[in-house]
Amino acid sequence: MSACKIIFLNQKGGVGKTTTCVNLGSSLAEMGNKVLLIDFDSQGNLTGAVSGDSRKPTIYNVIAGEISAKDAVQETPFDNLFVIPGSVDLAGLNLELVSEEDREYYLKNSISSLDDEFDFILLDCPPSLGLLTMNALAWAEYVFIPMQCEYFAMEGLNMLMRTITSVRKNINKDLKILGILFTMFTKRARLNAEVIEDVSTFFPNLVFKTIIPRTIRLAEAPSHGLPISAYDSRNSGNKAYQNLAKEVISRV
Ligand SMILES: Nc1ncnc2c1ncn2[C@@H]1O[C@H](COP(=O)(O)OP(=O)(O)O)[C@@H](O)[C@H]1O
Ligand SMILES: [Mg+2]
Repeated sequence: MSACKIIFLNQKGGVGKTTTCVNLGSSLAEMGNKVLLIDFDSQGNLTGAVSGDSRKPTIYNVIAGEISAKDAVQETPFDNLFVIPGSVDLAGLNLELVSEEDREYYLKNSISSLDDEFDFILLDCPPSLGLLTMNALAWAEYVFIPMQCEYFAMEGLNMLMRTITSVRKNINKDLKILGILFTMFTKRARLNAEVIEDVSTFFPNLVFKTIIPRTIRLAEAPSHGLPISAYDSRNSGNKAYQNLAKEVISRV
């Protein structure tokens, strides 16, 4: 077994990276896959969203060589779902690594032993294209791009695509894009539909059919430490993430 390695990336904050990492991960786990979530953002939002303990060893300690990746894996209260917590220390890692020769490969080298332990490893990126994100891109097999249906979305997306092209040239030639997901969709805003149409025209094969609706329950769930499936399984957001999981399985 070799895990399918996916990173959730968009240099913009607040677009649904963490929410998608958590709820797609939990949907995949409910389908019987063994799933590891890695919180690679110094904000640590993902860790709390699945009731992880951020006082235990974190991905920072793993990269710093203080603990093995396997020993940093925590169980969560949810079947088949595991987490390695994030840490505020990650913010300083950019500077610590910048003068190291293999600076883009620290993450890859420190967690490769996890490959045969899981079906999926999902990693939540910080909202930037700095050195931490380059480490994520060097390790990943697939980039998953969540985005909001808003006016400047296309510009951000073009920049992200250029970054991915340069990563393929320089640090990870096998990197693939898994897809583009629209999040926080509201029917009432006409702009939402227009943005979806634009992006779908430019990237016809990349846009996921599933669109995640904006729901209050999806926004509430993390503060209870629960994925949406455990917080409110009847919520339309849960159904959407289940559909997304099926689409993801068909693409990998
Ligand atoms: N589909 C949704 N419906 C309602 N609120 C959402 C939805 N997706 C995300 N949110 C909320 O929007 C905010 C930003 O989402 P988040 O996943 O943290 O984005 P990112 O990780 O890209 O910064 C969070 O408060 C989150 O709870
Ligand atoms: Mg986040």
